[in-house]
Amino acid sequence: MTSDLKTPVANDSIPTDPQIERYQHQYHSLDAPEISDAEYDRLIASLPQQSVGASPLGHFGKIQHNVPMLSLQNAFTKEDVLAFHKRICHDLGTTNVEYAVEPKYDGVAVSLLYQGGELVRASTRGDGLFGEDVTENIRTIPSVPQRLLGEKYPDLLEVRGEVYMTRAGFDDFNLRAIANGDKPFVNPRNAAAGSLRQVDPKETANRPLEMIGYVVAQVQGDFPSLHSERMKALAILGLPAPPQALVTIDGVFQYYQEMQDHRTTLGFDIDGIVIKVNSIHFQDQIGSTNHAPRWALSYKFTPQEEWTTVEGIDIQVGRFGTLTPVAKLKPVFVGGTTVSSVTLHNEARLKEKDIRLGDTVVVRRAGEVVPQITAVVMVRRPEGSAPFVFPTQCPSCSGEVRSNKCTAGLACPAQRVAAIQHFASRSAMGIDGLGAAVAEQLVKGNLVRSFPDLYRLTLEQVEGLEGMAEKSAQNLLDSIALSKSVPLSKLLNAIGIPRVGKSAANDLAEHFSSLEAVMCATKEDLKKVVGSVVSHEVVEFFAQSHNQEMVRQLQNLGIRCFHVASQAPENSLHIFLGKKVVITGKFSSMTRAEIKEKLTALGARVVDNVSKKTDYVVAGQDPGVKLEKAKSLGIPTISIEEILVKNPV
Ligand code: IVH
Repeated sequence: MTSDLKTPVANDSIPTDPQIERYQHQYHSLDAPEISDAEYDRLIASLPQQSVGASPLGHFGKIQHNVPMLSLQNAFTKEDVLAFHKRICHDLGTTNVEYAVEPKYDGVAVSLLYQGGELVRASTRGDGLFGEDVTENIRTIPSVPQRLLGEKYPDLLEVRGEVYMTRAGFDDFNLRAIANGDKPFVNPRNAAAGSLRQVDPKETANRPLEMIGYVVAQVQGDFPSLHSERMKALAILGLPAPPQALVTIDGVFQYYQEMQDHRTTLGFDIDGIVIKVNSIHFQDQIGSTNHAPRWALSYKFTPQEEWTTVEGIDIQVGRFGTLTPVAKLKPVFVGGTTVSSVTLHNEARLKEKDIRLGDTVVVRRAGEVVPQITAVVMVRRPEGSAPFVFPTQCPSCSGEVRSNKCTAGLACPAQRVAAIQHFASRSAMGIDGLGAAVAEQLVKGNLVRSFPDLYRLTLEQVEGLEGMAEKSAQNLLDSIALSKSVPLSKLLNAIGIPRVGKSAANDLAEHFSSLEAVMCATKEDLKKVVGSVVSHEVVEFFAQSHNQEMVRQLQNLGIRCFHVASQAPENSLHIFLGKKVVITGKFSSMTRAEIKEKLTALGARVVDNVSKKTDYVVAGQDPGVKLEKAKSLGIPTISIEEILVKNPV
């Protein structure tokens, strides 16, 4: 019999304080932890090395591991990994070390024993020396073979691996749990651990569990002597095994980055990568401590989940009056950013999750996805807390709320702020410098009651706003003035026709070409372009006299928006519509002011400096650095003659 994992000489674990022991017990044995996995990792990393594990629970038989079931040493930084590599090189007397790298599955460790090709025993890690006998539960997992495949298998094979739950399986299971009035699990790892420890194997069979084998603890008979080959051999025997990448130390960092970038696409949680010396001969030479093998390292990712507390539940009012609950959180760094507020979507979702003031919640930010609250940590719920009561009056205007919507329309200040913010946004009129704070002040100060009011703002009024310096006030007014000639689709998106977003606005603009044509169109005409639901909204919108008045005022204020064909011909008057143009050099035929006026009349926004966002540069004689920069950014240049020929005055 060969053994890959060395028996510890003595248990040298230092005594731990009772709280740490409690966390360890919760992490390894119970499935209702009191601190987050990320916090637990940080705590363990801050302690001197010790044996980590948990005593087996009562209701399963005890199994003594023939070979102690160890954990892994954790690394969190590049320096940690380089220190590991240095030690390995020192131990082996070479810098030429081949590593096998693989995902670190976030589940629960198990050990499976096959004798004569049959699965005879399965256990959890327990305290590393004694585990729980979960054989019958393990037998219910579809990916665990009862019998090894093929004719050629080792007489005895002990495989260690991870039982885990996929994200989809977890979401599905939790939804069912909530529907049945049961407590949901906080994450797939806890769900996997809890499912594996069901007293009734029939219950385990209902849980969507998977198994992957990642190390051979004992083997009798022929077996490969490279870790990567062993993993292939497991797969041939019918035991799922991790994909292998064989790399040098540089490749480790590349693999880590790739896995971190792709972790959300895998369908199951991984919390890092595991680096293993590939040669089993070298592994034996390097050996183990009584806590972990010295030939392997777990290199953890930045956590995607953290726990924090709910400090408030705000109700936001959208531009069409929809009330959205938003959790205000004690700021927490997760998935690469600080999160302090998270949408709870709507009353139904909030009720379903039963998130309360003072609750400890799990905040998840995976990749570029917006952060969400995935669970409430019930063991931490403060005593005497009550479910959140959704308001029956609008928190902004005290107006009536029907079907979770404020019915006051633009008479409600919050709806007005949201409408103006949307009007100014990039996909609408593209007014720079008009964010939430400015919109709020304009509405509160009664300077803007409707969209046309924006075009009546004076420098004095804007300068009077909080946090507005003279230059930024002028910039805002310039940007408002420039928005007068945006493409029609943007205007249609901006003015707040219900159900008309970017895509419907594009279709309408393309088909009708002018605002007047959209306003005069019959429901039948509109239906052919945007379908019956949207066409109904468009007709209703323009039938209302205050909307007609709003459009009339916009037109009187000089707003001229037309459709720009996406394939605008080069000689079209429209190539400058909505484009950022920089003028540089000297011109003999016109003054700069005249050129600026001409370009503005053609719908361009004339700006001072060349940046990535510049669309064209109009270059005269001796153009200088601006032209050089434009060329380096690949921005097209146009001469003034070309403009005049194609667009005579
Ligand atoms: S190798 C001797 N490989 O992570 C221990 N472990 O945090 C050998 N884990 O106890 C472990 N994925 O439960 C290994 N690809 C992988 C793993 C992996 C997940 C778990 C395992 C281990 C824990 C340490």
